[in-house]
Amino acid sequence: MVLLCSLGATAQRQQFTIETQHVSLVFGVGDNGRLYQNYLGPRLSHASDLEHLPGGIEAFLTHGMEDYFEPALHIQHADGNPSTELKYVSHETSTASDGASQTVFTLRDDKYPVTVRLIFKAYADQDVIVAHSEIVNGEKRAVTLHNYASCLLSLSRNQYWLTEFSGDWANEVNMSESELNFGKKVLDTKLGSRASMFMPSFFQLSLGGKSTETTGEVLVGTLAWTGNYRFTFDVDQNHRLRLISGINPYFSAYELKAGETFVTPDFIFTLSMQGRGLASRNLHRWARHYRLKNGEGNRMTLLNNWEATFFDFDEQKLVGLMDDAVRLGVDMFLLDDGWFGNKYPRSSDHQGLGDWQETASKLPHKVGYLCEQAAKKGIKFGIWIEPEMVNPKSELYEKHKDWVIHLPNRDEYYFRNQMVLDLSNPQVQDHVFGVVDRLMTDYPQIAFFKWDCNSPITNIFSPYLKDKQTHLYVDYVRGLYKVLERIRTKYPDLPMMLCSGGGGRIDYEALRYFTEFWPSDNTDPVERLYIQYGFSSVYPAKAQCAHVTTWNKQASIKFRVDVASMGKLGFDIKCSDLKDDEIKFCQQAIATYNRLKPVILDGDMYRLVSPYEGNHASTMMVSPDQSHAVVFAFDINPRYRENLLPVRLQGLDPNRQYRVTEVNRMGGWPLGCDGKTYSGEYLMTVGLNLFGTTRLTSHVIEVTTL
Ligand code: GLA
Repeated sequence: MVLLCSLGATAQRQQFTIETQHVSLVFGVGDNGRLYQNYLGPRLSHASDLEHLPGGIEAFLTHGMEDYFEPALHIQHADGNPSTELKYVSHETSTASDGASQTVFTLRDDKYPVTVRLIFKAYADQDVIVAHSEIVNGEKRAVTLHNYASCLLSLSRNQYWLTEFSGDWANEVNMSESELNFGKKVLDTKLGSRASMFMPSFFQLSLGGKSTETTGEVLVGTLAWTGNYRFTFDVDQNHRLRLISGINPYFSAYELKAGETFVTPDFIFTLSMQGRGLASRNLHRWARHYRLKNGEGNRMTLLNNWEATFFDFDEQKLVGLMDDAVRLGVDMFLLDDGWFGNKYPRSSDHQGLGDWQETASKLPHKVGYLCEQAAKKGIKFGIWIEPEMVNPKSELYEKHKDWVIHLPNRDEYYFRNQMVLDLSNPQVQDHVFGVVDRLMTDYPQIAFFKWDCNSPITNIFSPYLKDKQTHLYVDYVRGLYKVLERIRTKYPDLPMMLCSGGGGRIDYEALRYFTEFWPSDNTDPVERLYIQYGFSSVYPAKAQCAHVTTWNKQASIKFRVDVASMGKLGFDIKCSDLKDDEIKFCQQAIATYNRLKPVILDGDMYRLVSPYEGNHASTMMVSPDQSHAVVFAFDINPRYRENLLPVRLQGLDPNRQYRVTEVNRMGGWPLGCDGKTYSGEYLMTVGLNLFGTTRLTSHVIEVTTL
């Protein structure tokens, strides 16, 4: 350890800065020729100061050398030597194809021809940095990668507070915070295809003390990988934190052949000096502009039949629901699970998965007829698929057992009565691509796919990979990307929803291919206030599908619609479940939503009052030019004679005058602020009385400049 400290403190021959508008990340080469990370924090604007920075921790810690903490890289060389020592070779900066400022460090081992590139893309305006590594095997024979992180960041602060987002099906992203002290805290998953089921791949890390929505230094990070991930927070004896992000090395030793390169997934992070709200807005803006499929485009409202019918429908019922969609005024009808399978019709989740032909008894005129009906009624048609999966009771399983991930000599066990197809196998990739391609070829009118994934990888053995079983978790994800890339190339404008029994699969690599995701099967609006709040830490409103259902009948239709209007609005309901005045309310609310969509979906989000504080919640969205805002306010569980505080708005121009108008009203008295004019300063310092003491009450106000 003495050696480590002295190394860290050696004079730095060269310093390199990666910077955004408000953040600097500084690396330096030590006298020993190795690369160190010397700083990560608020931007340092005087280049002459950099030489004063104390030496930091090695930029990409390797196994086998003198640092005693968790390595970012562990390679077993062809001759069996398990150590790697990386020396700095070169540093290049350029402008990436998307406009980011890109820095590439090339490092090499003197004794073994292994090259590592550390690649950082800095997005100045959003204060977002995207980092990954590439490992090139220049040896004559294969090497084995045991640890291959995307990124290692080190930080030196007196306190670290980690917020994690754990949960389960229908109970996603519960936020909890704990302090990190000496030792390791690991957030990871081994679920494979449904990797995020217990925790999606993101976290908030408050530095130097706890942060709030508007104060404190906070790093928010996420791994763009649709499979097993691992974040290791390793606090050393000097209270320095090493944060290692990457693919989970669990059962994933990867053989890299001579000449091959292993490209790790992106670790995306932002650092805010003004609390968590800004960190989220940075990521939202970055995602809409650079990452989310059609991130700056429009989104369709829809009516989905899942909760309205489950598996119990026929052509007539579906056409009736299309009439409901028209009546409500949404853009699209989405046909969910249950439309396929003939030998084993998909009448429940026990059978049929994998057999993507329309069930003749349910849909005698096939999907084409439904497309025609939708077109006649002036709405779009979308369809549900779950192409990576199979029920053992299916023709696909009977024909292609070798396509199924399963242990050859053990009894099978099932998650939701199904198994996962082996996407490491190119034939399976063709099959999965073919599910979309066949539907689009037969029915080019299909305007939307909901792509589901209801099982983690179980029975973990790939018939295709044979003696390379530890490649399965990685090659599965790579196979999935190959399929999604083919779909995007052939159908570039096709919107798709990423679903995994709710938020069981969600990350920024998948969202290159998906326009939106389904955060939870739980559509109880009270639960959704928490779930949407949690996901908003990293994902923009535009990507979060939010549907109005009958899950919580105690909540009025207004409350349910108001909650769902904070995201990408949809309905999963029959008009016959609603009274006339409720239908009228929905019609008006959808029209208002369409008018306010540019602010709600493309504006900056400010989380004003957290549902975690107890009785109320409020979120607002503000247009980038600060001329227009929408504020949502909810009374969840107020107390009798509670001392109600005004809600202070954020993000407005203090010197402009704004008119406040309540929208989505359904009976009751208008708010006192309705129709009044205030300065932005007043709205942000004094605030508006938007809360009351009646349970499950909600208000939506529109704020516009005069
Ligand atoms: C998953 C999805 C639901 C629905 C069902 C259909 O649970 O999350 O929205 O599509 O599958 O089986």
